[in-house]
Amino acid sequence: THLSLLGIPLELGAGEPGAIMGPAALRTAGLPGLLAGLGHHVVDHGDMAPPAPVAASLPAAAAACRNAGGIAAWTRAIHDRAFALAQGGGVPIFLGGDHSLSMGTVSGIARHCRAAGRKLVVLWIDAHADFNTPATSPSGNMHGMSTAFLCGDPTLRPLLGDRPFVPVAPVDIHLLGLRSVDAGERQALAAHGVNRIDMRLIDAFGVPALLQRILADIDGPDTHLHVSLDVDFLDPSLAPGVGTTVPGGASDREAHLVMEMLHDSGLVGSLDVVELNPFLDERGKSARLLTELTGSLFGSSVVERPARTPHLQ
Ligand code: ARG
Ligand code: MN
Ligand code: MN
Ligand code: MN
Repeated sequence: THLSLLGIPLELGAGEPGAIMGPAALRTAGLPGLLAGLGHHVVDHGDMAPPAPVAASLPAAAAACRNAGGIAAWTRAIHDRAFALAQGGGVPIFLGGDHSLSMGTVSGIARHCRAAGRKLVVLWIDAHADFNTPATSPSGNMHGMSTAFLCGDPTLRPLLGDRPFVPVAPVDIHLLGLRSVDAGERQALAAHGVNRIDMRLIDAFGVPALLQRILADIDGPDTHLHVSLDVDFLDPSLAPGVGTTVPGGASDREAHLVMEMLHDSGLVGSLDVVELNPFLDERGKSARLLTELTGSLFGSSVVERPARTPHLQ
């Protein structure tokens, strides 16, 4: 497979600095070489340069969010790069950077899918729903608003400026790993019919049954699956390098199994690896685990297995 890496050193959406160093840490952990060693054709497009400020005319509520003007400029620039990379063929892998970058990546991928006549399904692997709006956010941090933007929240939509906005249907977003949802988000998620797989469900039924149910519903060649992996999906003991740790996260094997099943499905068309904050990491362990998980998503396996083998029938 042709893999296109793009570093997005963005931290304006997070509550504390450090995610700007994420792409460098993932490269230091050996991500490009690991993927190449799996037999993929890897092109590293380097890191995006910070975009020039734009005169964003945002609704007052959105303009009041932390670094809203900067996020608007980044969202537009990221959208342009994501759209172009996806149009060029191959699988883009976006290295973050905080989770607000997914407003740009997923909107660019959604535009590509519309151009290609394909359906888009998003798997959001995260302790959080990131479904806040400027009206519901307790923090004003825009990394907590990405899925609301993607579903077309009218106060957030102007972040994209004049780019064609292709909304993602809320029922085509699957949240996996939830264990911290704000009150306003909780109501909105239920009202919009977003699929919420929280840690309790994972404890009770396990990754295979839950993920297989999502994958089985996806109609192969006509659908592009975008995976957005937030480091805080993982238990903080395994991945301390993130500003928004929440206890009770996924184990090493739960997370690898998610990635392995996604690989075997053959459905993944693009990936975000976000929220890694190397300033908070312990001797690179979070960067290493994320690198290994990305390897599992792209075919790393101890034993030979044919692709497209469903784990459950
Ligand atoms: N729900 C909280 C907020 O809106 C935390 C969001 C954390 N998001 C993230 N991508 N880590 O502030
Ligand atoms: Mn997130
Ligand atoms: Mn999160
Ligand atoms: Mn558990």
